[in-house]
Amino acid sequence: MPKDKEINRTAEHVAIIMDGNGRWAAARGKPRLYGHQAGAKRVRDIVEACPHLGVRYLTVFAFSTENWKRTQTEVAGLMRLFKKYILSEAKRLVNAGVCVRFIGDRLRLEPGLVQLMDELEEMTAKNSLVNLTVAINYGGRDEVARATKRMAQDVAKGFLNPETVNEQTLAGYLDTYVLPDPDLVIRTSGEARISNFLLWQSAYSEYEFVKTLWPDFTVQDFQKIVAIFAGKERRFGGLLAS
Ligand code: FPP
Repeated sequence: MPKDKEINRTAEHVAIIMDGNGRWAAARGKPRLYGHQAGAKRVRDIVEACPHLGVRYLTVFAFSTENWKRTQTEVAGLMRLFKKYILSEAKRLVNAGVCVRFIGDRLRLEPGLVQLMDELEEMTAKNSLVNLTVAINYGGRDEVARATKRMAQDVAKGFLNPETVNEQTLAGYLDTYVLPDPDLVIRTSGEARISNFLLWQSAYSEYEFVKTLWPDFTVQDFQKIVAIFAGKERRFGGLLAS
């Protein structure tokens, strides 16, 4: 990259599609859940690295609206893993200054898990060093559909004038209404797809597709990608971002 293109920007919001847990486990002759457990450990490392890299927002795709099609064993195992993760990480996250939020449709999740999610959000609400958003039962199209439904309900109730609806209005109804748009979206495992992740929010994001399987993704890999982003020029439809 030519030096004069370097503009030294930080990736303030990084979103990650954590792919490759199944293949990582299969390569070791282990069940898929073994890969997801190893993947959960990587989440901890990456969250802890964020303050050192200037990353204030980290959003991770943990379970998509399409993931229900997986075997019952895998789905149940992932739900157990989310509960275990919340219980075992809560104290650490509170002490590390991490504010945790969950996005996605909670209606299909079991009440026990939703309760833990609510509690963790509440426990960490005052933190602001890093904002960790975990997408569970999340799909970008589903999010826009749910937001549109709530907007229509507000119009019907007379709370919202349809003539005033613009991009900001819709953004305010999305699960991510409190978050800035991601600057950078990383997908591991060599797949170059966005798989319904943050469709609206990533309109101007940079994408980095890396071959590493998620359980092998290190803080050094993360640091390298963030550094590459920092040297990249990004234009919003012609205007150089400042
Ligand atoms: C995709 O890999 C990964 C998932 C569907 C689950 C992601 C979950 C974790 C990383 C662990 C838990 C996370 C938190 C935040 C506690 P895949 O299974 O599709 O891999 P494959 O393509 O190799 O089969």
